[in-house]
Amino acid sequence: MSDILGYKNKRVVVTGCFSGMGEATARMLLDLGAEVHGLDYKDCALPLASFAKVDLREPDSIDAGVAKIGGRVDALFNCAGLPNVFPVLDVMKVNFLGLRKLTEAIVPLMPQGSAIASIASTAGGGWHARMATHKELAATPDFETGLKWCEANQHLIDDSYTFSKETLIIWTMMSGASLIKRGVRINCTLPGPTQTPMMPDFEKAAPKAVIDAAAKPIDRFATPAEQAGPMVFLNSELATYVNGVPFPVDGGFTGGVTTGQIDLSGLLASMTPA
Ligand SMILES: NC(=O)c1ccc[n+]([C@@H]2O[C@H](COP(=O)([O-])OP(=O)(O)OC[C@H]3O[C@@H](n4cnc5c(N)ncnc54)[C@H](O)[C@@H]3O)[C@@H](O)[C@H]2O)c1
Repeated sequence: MSDILGYKNKRVVVTGCFSGMGEATARMLLDLGAEVHGLDYKDCALPLASFAKVDLREPDSIDAGVAKIGGRVDALFNCAGLPNVFPVLDVMKVNFLGLRKLTEAIVPLMPQGSAIASIASTAGGGWHARMATHKELAATPDFETGLKWCEANQHLIDDSYTFSKETLIIWTMMSGASLIKRGVRINCTLPGPTQTPMMPDFEKAAPKAVIDAAAKPIDRFATPAEQAGPMVFLNSELATYVNGVPFPVDGGFTGGVTTGQIDLSGLLASMTPA
């Protein structure tokens, strides 16, 4: 089989490989001939080269997981995440602080030409509005100081899912400018609603009309494989000039909102109690 994506015998790390998009990403990378190392806090049934039980809320667990992988890492796929039915600080830890700590621990293992892709969300698509605040959190030097920032600013992070994804997007764009100096690219995807085990939690947290509106204009949810494909592309040899990019994978939602064809704020306003 041709190896146009360049994954044959590459050592790759996938977080969140237990289910959903992470599982689909790991599966695709196995099919492409990569040596796949998985990290999750739940066991993974795929035939991986290695698996380490890592809880992204726990810095020591992250360090132990990275030590277990050891050696060279050619690509990192940050797929693990938590929805905001979980405690605010847990969401911040998994979706940003732990993801960042893991990434920073893996970067020294990455040779020139390596790449990192993380899953953010269209929920973070409003990142422009609070740029200065997110840059402040992104500028904290490590997990612990980042956590202190979150504890001191709980009033800002009430909607922890949206906030964590916005910070992830801004940190990705900031890191694109610095990591490329050592030959490592970093990007993130912004998925729209996707049929994974996380969906029932979103349906608990938001009215159906809002979730359906986020699936406009395509009018259906994505499959996990439709989210894995763009992640695999971003870290591949077909994307060597793509860097620091928040990449919507949303069936046209971002384009529709940006051009005023989808009026999400109107919908949200219409649902706000008087
Ligand atoms: N499903 C959607 O509609 C949707 C939309 C936009 C973005 N996302 C994002 O996509 C990513 C993948 O989510 P999914 O939809 O596949 O859901 P999912 O629940 O199937 O996958 C999440 C994965 O993260 C792992 N995980 C959770 N907490 C962890 C922790 N503390 N330590 C280690 N691993 C942990 C879970 O075990 C699971 O394997 C997440 O970042 C999510 O925020 C999902």
